[in-house]
Amino acid sequence: MTITEPSPSAMPATPTATGAAVDEELVVTVDELADRAKFEALVGRLSAQSVTKHYDAYADIPWDDAGYEVDPDDRRWVLPAFDALGRTEWYLAQPPAVQSRIGLYRYAAAAKLGMEFENILVRGLLEYTFFTLDNDDPRFRYVYHEVAEETHHGMMFQEFVNRSGMKPKGLPWFLRYRTTRVVSLGHWFPELFFFFVLGGEDPIDHIQREMLRNNDDLPPIFELIMRHHVTEEARHLSFARHYLKLEVPKLSRPKRVVLSLITPIILGVMAQMMILPPKDIARRFSIPADVMREAYRDNEDMKRGTKESVRKVRKLARELGLINPLTKRIWLALGIYATD
Ligand SMILES: [Fe+2]
Ligand SMILES: [Fe+2]
Repeated sequence: MTITEPSPSAMPATPTATGAAVDEELVVTVDELADRAKFEALVGRLSAQSVTKHYDAYADIPWDDAGYEVDPDDRRWVLPAFDALGRTEWYLAQPPAVQSRIGLYRYAAAAKLGMEFENILVRGLLEYTFFTLDNDDPRFRYVYHEVAEETHHGMMFQEFVNRSGMKPKGLPWFLRYRTTRVVSLGHWFPELFFFFVLGGEDPIDHIQREMLRNNDDLPPIFELIMRHHVTEEARHLSFARHYLKLEVPKLSRPKRVVLSLITPIILGVMAQMMILPPKDIARRFSIPADVMREAYRDNEDMKRGTKESVRKVRKLARELGLINPLTKRIWLALGIYATD
């Protein structure tokens, strides 16, 4: 048994650029999870951590303190080098007030999308517990902890959006109505639902950790929001991954085939949504079409970043036997295949 942990009670942690620490996931292999007791022990530990280390969207963020304002003229909103738009000649030639507003809009739009994704996630988790779990199943308690945490993330992200003054629109209405289909997966196909969960959580977590690791000059409000978020997400990701390791091997053959075909489609769509800016950014800031193309569509770094953002979930899909010569083509076509 090789759970990677420094002590029985804590999650593994890594330092950020400012010297603060954020938690990492616990990892248990598929073989180890064949033993149900080990899975339940892991879920128990995640539940215990949810009690000792959790953040309130208002009590734990000093929204009104000096230094925590969301000021659109703050130079620290300027896009970092790893965002391809931030490296274009067009962006570099813009006045400082425009550069910082484009950066802030990008982050506010990402927070809005994060809030919407978490809304779908919470609704699906409640479907999952309501329809599939019996008395005494330790997953019930953990998933309710996760629901409570995600509601605080949603409040935290929406508060940030409101204070930014940027008014991002979020999902178009025709997609909003379709979210009920994803929510219902929590009931009739939870394995597919949890791949959807990882498709949203893994890319966001990847981007936020990169920013916390590489940038020691983020606006304090934004740094704190991301730090609180990734710390709790480490538990969510750990649960989703281990749930899949436990349940996917038990699926019937037809369901495994469906899962192997739909998973890369979900991941490909979700990774693009999480990594690219909303389309209306070009109209709002009069960004020329060729600049957008250069930054996002024809950019090799962006393509590499997209693949990298789903690396952990791709590894899991491979471990579970969901990538075969046929489904590999779907992964390739959607730009999310790699050998690692
Ligand atoms: Fe979250
Ligand atoms: Fe989460």
